[in-house]
Amino acid sequence: MIQSLRLAIRSATRVACAAMLFALVATNAARAQDAVVEELPPALTHYQGREIAQTMHYLGADWLTRESRQREEDCDRMLAALKLQPGQSVCDLGCGNGFYTLPMAELVGEKGRIYAVDIQQEMLHLLDERAKDAGHANIEPVLGSPIDPRLPEGKLDLILLVDVYHEMSHPEHMLREMRRALRPQGRLVLVEFRLEDPEVPIKLLHKMSKEQIKKELLPNGYRLVEEYDDLPWQHMMFFEPDTKAAEKSPAR
Ligand SMILES: C[S@@+](CC[C@H](N)C(=O)[O-])C[C@H]1O[C@@H](n2cnc3c(N)ncnc32)[C@H](O)[C@@H]1O
Repeated sequence: MIQSLRLAIRSATRVACAAMLFALVATNAARAQDAVVEELPPALTHYQGREIAQTMHYLGADWLTRESRQREEDCDRMLAALKLQPGQSVCDLGCGNGFYTLPMAELVGEKGRIYAVDIQQEMLHLLDERAKDAGHANIEPVLGSPIDPRLPEGKLDLILLVDVYHEMSHPEHMLREMRRALRPQGRLVLVEFRLEDPEVPIKLLHKMSKEQIKKELLPNGYRLVEEYDDLPWQHMMFFEPDTKAAEKSPAR
Protein backbone atom coordinates (compact mmCIF):
# COMPACT_ATOMS: atom_id res chain seq x y z
CA MET A 1 0.00 0.00 0.00
CA ILE A 2 2.77 2.43 1.09
CA GLN A 3 4.81 1.30 -1.93
CA SER A 4 1.99 2.14 -4.40
CA LEU A 5 1.38 5.51 -2.63
CA ARG A 6 5.09 6.33 -3.11
CA LEU A 7 4.92 5.39 -6.79
CA ALA A 8 1.81 7.57 -7.29
CA ILE A 9 3.54 10.57 -5.60
CA ARG A 10 6.70 10.04 -7.70
CA SER A 11 4.79 9.95 -10.99
CA ALA A 12 2.65 12.99 -10.00
CA THR A 13 5.89 14.89 -9.21
CA ARG A 14 7.33 13.94 -12.62
CA VAL A 15 4.20 15.17 -14.40
CA ALA A 16 4.30 18.47 -12.45
CA CYS A 17 8.01 18.96 -13.24
CA ALA A 18 7.43 18.23 -16.94
CA ALA A 19 4.53 20.73 -16.99
CA MET A 20 6.70 23.43 -15.33
CA LEU A 21 9.54 22.75 -17.76
CA PHE A 22 7.14 22.94 -20.72
CA ALA A 23 5.71 26.25 -19.41
CA LEU A 24 9.23 27.67 -18.98
CA VAL A 25 10.33 26.63 -22.47
CA ALA A 26 7.10 27.98 -24.01
CA THR A 27 7.51 31.35 -22.21
CA ASN A 28 11.14 31.66 -23.30
CA ALA A 29 10.23 30.73 -26.89
CA ALA A 30 7.50 33.38 -26.89
CA ARG A 31 9.97 35.95 -25.51
CA ALA A 32 12.56 35.06 -28.16
CA GLN A 33 9.90 35.44 -30.83
CA ASP A 34 8.88 38.85 -29.42
CA ALA A 35 12.51 39.89 -29.71
CA VAL A 36 12.72 39.17 -33.47
CA VAL A 37 9.21 40.18 -34.54
CA GLU A 38 9.39 43.87 -35.22
CA GLU A 39 6.38 46.12 -35.64
CA LEU A 40 6.63 47.39 -39.24
CA PRO A 41 4.92 50.48 -40.59
CA PRO A 42 2.98 49.72 -43.80
CA ALA A 43 5.23 49.07 -46.79
CA LEU A 44 5.11 51.84 -49.40
CA THR A 45 4.10 51.03 -52.97
CA HIS A 46 5.35 54.42 -54.27
CA TYR A 47 7.88 57.00 -53.11
CA GLN A 48 8.34 60.50 -54.55
CA GLY A 49 6.37 59.54 -57.68
CA ARG A 50 8.29 56.29 -58.27
CA GLU A 51 6.80 52.79 -58.05
CA ILE A 52 8.81 50.61 -55.65
CA ALA A 53 9.90 47.25 -57.12
CA GLN A 54 9.28 43.88 -55.45
CA THR A 55 12.16 42.32 -53.52
CA MET A 56 14.15 39.93 -55.67
CA HIS A 57 13.41 36.40 -54.38
CA TYR A 58 16.30 34.22 -53.21
CA LEU A 59 15.23 31.47 -55.65
CA GLY A 60 16.48 33.77 -58.41
CA ALA A 61 19.91 34.25 -56.78
CA ASP A 62 21.73 32.40 -59.59
CA TRP A 63 21.09 35.43 -61.80
CA LEU A 64 23.36 37.47 -59.51
CA THR A 65 26.33 35.15 -60.10
CA ARG A 66 25.65 34.58 -63.82
CA GLU A 67 28.71 34.12 -66.00
CA SER A 68 27.85 37.14 -68.22
CA ARG A 69 27.63 39.64 -65.34
CA GLN A 70 31.24 40.87 -65.50
CA ARG A 71 30.88 41.53 -69.24
CA GLU A 72 27.48 43.24 -68.89
CA GLU A 73 28.08 45.36 -65.80
CA ASP A 74 31.90 45.62 -65.70
CA CYS A 75 31.91 44.65 -62.04
CA ASP A 76 35.70 44.98 -61.65
CA ARG A 77 35.52 48.59 -62.80
CA MET A 78 32.69 49.30 -60.35
CA LEU A 79 34.72 47.82 -57.49
CA ALA A 80 37.82 49.81 -58.46
CA ALA A 81 35.75 53.04 -58.48
CA LEU A 82 34.89 52.45 -54.80
CA LYS A 83 38.60 52.93 -53.93
CA LEU A 84 38.36 50.64 -50.91
CA GLN A 85 41.35 50.65 -48.55
CA PRO A 86 42.74 47.87 -46.34
CA GLY A 87 41.33 48.09 -42.81
CA GLN A 88 38.08 49.83 -43.74
CA SER A 89 34.65 48.92 -42.36
CA VAL A 90 32.25 48.57 -45.24
CA CYS A 91 28.70 47.38 -45.72
CA ASP A 92 27.34 45.48 -48.71
CA LEU A 93 23.71 46.38 -48.14
CA GLY A 94 21.25 44.05 -49.85
CA CYS A 95 24.19 41.69 -50.41
CA GLY A 96 22.11 38.86 -51.92
CA ASN A 97 24.32 35.78 -52.28
CA GLY A 98 27.44 37.90 -51.82
CA PHE A 99 28.54 38.45 -55.42
CA TYR A 100 30.22 41.72 -54.34
CA THR A 101 30.78 40.84 -50.67
CA LEU A 102 33.60 38.40 -51.43
CA PRO A 103 35.81 40.66 -53.57
CA MET A 104 35.15 43.52 -51.12
CA ALA A 105 36.38 41.30 -48.27
CA GLU A 106 39.56 40.74 -50.27
CA LEU A 107 40.03 44.49 -50.82
CA VAL A 108 39.66 45.56 -47.16
CA GLY A 109 41.90 42.67 -46.03
CA GLU A 110 41.94 40.81 -42.75
CA LYS A 111 42.06 44.01 -40.67
CA GLY A 112 38.96 45.31 -42.42
CA ARG A 113 35.37 44.20 -42.01
CA ILE A 114 32.45 43.70 -44.37
CA TYR A 115 28.94 43.81 -42.94
CA ALA A 116 26.80 41.83 -45.37
CA VAL A 117 23.17 42.80 -44.80
CA ASP A 118 20.09 41.29 -46.35
CA ILE A 119 16.45 40.89 -45.32
CA GLN A 120 16.29 37.30 -46.65
CA GLN A 121 17.94 34.74 -44.39
CA GLU A 122 18.22 32.37 -47.36
CA MET A 123 20.42 34.89 -49.20
CA LEU A 124 22.70 35.03 -46.14
CA HIS A 125 22.97 31.21 -46.12
CA LEU A 126 24.04 31.30 -49.77
CA LEU A 127 26.57 34.03 -48.96
CA ASP A 128 27.87 32.05 -45.97
CA GLU A 129 28.58 28.99 -48.13
CA ARG A 130 30.45 31.10 -50.69
CA ALA A 131 32.43 32.97 -47.99
CA LYS A 132 33.49 29.68 -46.32
CA ASP A 133 34.61 28.23 -49.66
CA ALA A 134 36.68 31.37 -50.31
CA GLY A 135 38.13 31.27 -46.75
CA HIS A 136 37.09 34.82 -45.76
CA ALA A 137 36.88 35.43 -42.00
CA ASN A 138 36.23 39.20 -42.15
CA ILE A 139 32.59 39.02 -43.29
CA GLU A 140 29.79 39.56 -40.81
CA PRO A 141 26.38 38.50 -42.14
CA VAL A 142 23.54 40.61 -40.69
CA LEU A 143 19.84 39.84 -41.04
CA GLY A 144 18.35 43.31 -41.48
CA SER A 145 14.72 44.30 -41.40
CA PRO A 146 12.94 46.42 -44.04
CA ILE A 147 13.29 49.45 -41.74
CA ASP A 148 16.66 48.80 -40.09
CA PRO A 149 19.91 47.33 -41.45
CA ARG A 150 21.06 46.74 -37.83
CA LEU A 151 24.49 48.28 -38.32
CA PRO A 152 26.79 49.71 -35.64
CA GLU A 153 26.45 53.48 -35.16
CA GLY A 154 28.97 55.87 -36.78
CA LYS A 155 31.48 53.16 -37.76
CA LEU A 156 31.19 52.65 -41.50
CA ASP A 157 33.49 54.08 -44.15
CA LEU A 158 31.21 53.08 -46.98
CA ILE A 159 27.82 51.51 -47.62
CA LEU A 160 27.33 50.00 -51.08
CA LEU A 161 23.89 49.33 -52.57
CA VAL A 162 24.01 47.60 -55.94
CA ASP A 163 20.58 47.22 -57.53
CA VAL A 164 18.94 47.39 -54.09
CA TYR A 165 17.67 50.88 -53.25
CA HIS A 166 14.79 50.75 -55.78
CA GLU A 167 13.45 47.66 -53.91
CA MET A 168 13.33 49.25 -50.47
CA SER A 169 9.80 49.24 -49.11
CA HIS A 170 10.64 51.84 -46.40
CA PRO A 171 13.16 54.19 -48.05
CA GLU A 172 13.02 56.96 -45.44
CA HIS A 173 13.62 54.57 -42.52
CA MET A 174 16.51 52.91 -44.34
CA LEU A 175 18.08 56.23 -45.39
CA ARG A 176 17.95 57.44 -41.78
CA GLU A 177 19.49 54.24 -40.36
CA MET A 178 22.21 54.10 -43.01
CA ARG A 179 23.10 57.73 -42.31
CA ARG A 180 23.32 56.89 -38.62
CA ALA A 181 25.74 54.03 -39.38
CA LEU A 182 28.16 56.13 -41.46
CA ARG A 183 31.22 57.96 -40.13
CA PRO A 184 30.97 61.75 -40.75
CA GLN A 185 32.97 61.42 -44.03
CA GLY A 186 31.57 57.96 -44.79
CA ARG A 187 29.95 57.39 -48.17
CA LEU A 188 26.71 55.84 -49.36
CA VAL A 189 27.11 54.52 -52.91
CA LEU A 190 24.08 53.84 -55.08
CA VAL A 191 24.52 51.69 -58.18
CA GLU A 192 21.28 51.58 -60.19
CA PHE A 193 20.44 50.65 -63.78
CA ARG A 194 20.10 53.82 -65.90
CA LEU A 195 16.46 54.74 -66.58
CA GLU A 196 17.59 57.43 -69.03
CA ASP A 197 19.15 54.83 -71.32
CA PRO A 198 16.71 52.71 -73.39
CA GLU A 199 19.64 50.49 -74.44
CA VAL A 200 19.94 49.08 -70.92
CA PRO A 201 17.94 45.81 -71.19
CA ILE A 202 16.33 45.87 -67.74
CA LYS A 203 12.62 46.30 -66.82
CA LEU A 204 11.68 49.93 -66.17
CA LEU A 205 10.63 49.17 -62.59
CA HIS A 206 14.20 48.11 -61.82
CA LYS A 207 15.82 51.22 -63.27
CA MET A 208 16.27 54.69 -61.73
CA SER A 209 17.14 58.08 -63.20
CA LYS A 210 19.76 60.32 -61.61
CA GLU A 211 17.09 62.98 -61.12
CA GLN A 212 14.89 60.57 -59.19
CA ILE A 213 17.78 59.39 -57.01
CA LYS A 214 18.62 63.00 -56.10
CA LYS A 215 14.94 63.76 -55.47
CA GLU A 216 14.86 60.97 -52.89
CA LEU A 217 18.26 61.25 -51.21
CA LEU A 218 18.89 64.99 -50.92
CA PRO A 219 15.83 65.73 -48.72
CA ASN A 220 16.77 62.76 -46.52
CA GLY A 221 20.03 64.22 -45.21
CA TYR A 222 22.53 63.35 -47.95
CA ARG A 223 24.64 65.43 -50.33
CA LEU A 224 25.93 64.24 -53.67
CA VAL A 225 29.76 64.29 -53.67
CA GLU A 226 30.77 62.26 -56.74
CA GLU A 227 29.36 60.54 -59.80
CA TYR A 228 30.93 57.79 -61.86
CA ASP A 229 29.50 57.38 -65.36
CA ASP A 230 31.79 54.83 -66.99
CA LEU A 231 29.83 51.64 -66.29
CA PRO A 232 28.04 49.98 -69.21
CA TRP A 233 24.56 49.82 -67.67
CA GLN A 234 24.55 51.59 -64.30
CA HIS A 235 24.88 54.98 -62.63
CA MET A 236 27.16 55.15 -59.68
CA MET A 237 26.39 58.00 -57.28
CA PHE A 238 28.35 58.77 -54.10
CA PHE A 239 26.64 60.55 -51.19
CA GLU A 240 27.83 61.77 -47.80
CA PRO A 241 25.73 62.62 -44.75
CA ASP A 242 24.62 66.25 -44.88
CA THR A 243 24.40 67.21 -41.24
CA LYS A 244 22.62 70.54 -41.83
CA ALA A 245 19.99 69.05 -44.16
CA ALA A 246 19.56 66.07 -41.84
CA GLU A 247 18.16 68.39 -39.15
CA LYS A 248 15.25 69.22 -41.47
CA SER A 249 14.89 65.85 -43.20
CA PRO A 250 11.71 63.71 -42.91
CA ALA A 251 13.85 60.73 -41.94
CA ARG A 252 15.24 62.27 -38.76
C1 LIG B 1 18.68 42.51 -56.93
S1 LIG B 1 19.35 41.86 -55.45
C2 LIG B 1 20.99 42.54 -55.51
C3 LIG B 1 22.00 41.74 -54.69
C4 LIG B 1 23.43 42.25 -54.70
N1 LIG B 1 23.51 43.62 -54.27
C5 LIG B 1 24.09 42.09 -56.04
O1 LIG B 1 24.24 43.09 -56.78
O2 LIG B 1 24.48 40.97 -56.39
C6 LIG B 1 18.57 42.87 -54.20
C7 LIG B 1 18.78 42.36 -52.78
O3 LIG B 1 18.41 43.40 -51.88
C8 LIG B 1 17.77 42.83 -50.76
N2 LIG B 1 16.96 43.87 -50.09
C9 LIG B 1 15.83 44.48 -50.51
N3 LIG B 1 15.42 45.40 -49.59
C10 LIG B 1 16.32 45.36 -48.58
C11 LIG B 1 16.45 46.07 -47.34
N4 LIG B 1 15.58 47.00 -46.94
N5 LIG B 1 17.52 45.78 -46.55
C12 LIG B 1 18.42 44.83 -46.92
N6 LIG B 1 18.33 44.13 -48.07
C13 LIG B 1 17.31 44.39 -48.89
C14 LIG B 1 16.96 41.67 -51.35
O4 LIG B 1 16.63 40.73 -50.38
C15 LIG B 1 17.95 41.15 -52.41
O5 LIG B 1 18.76 40.14 -51.88
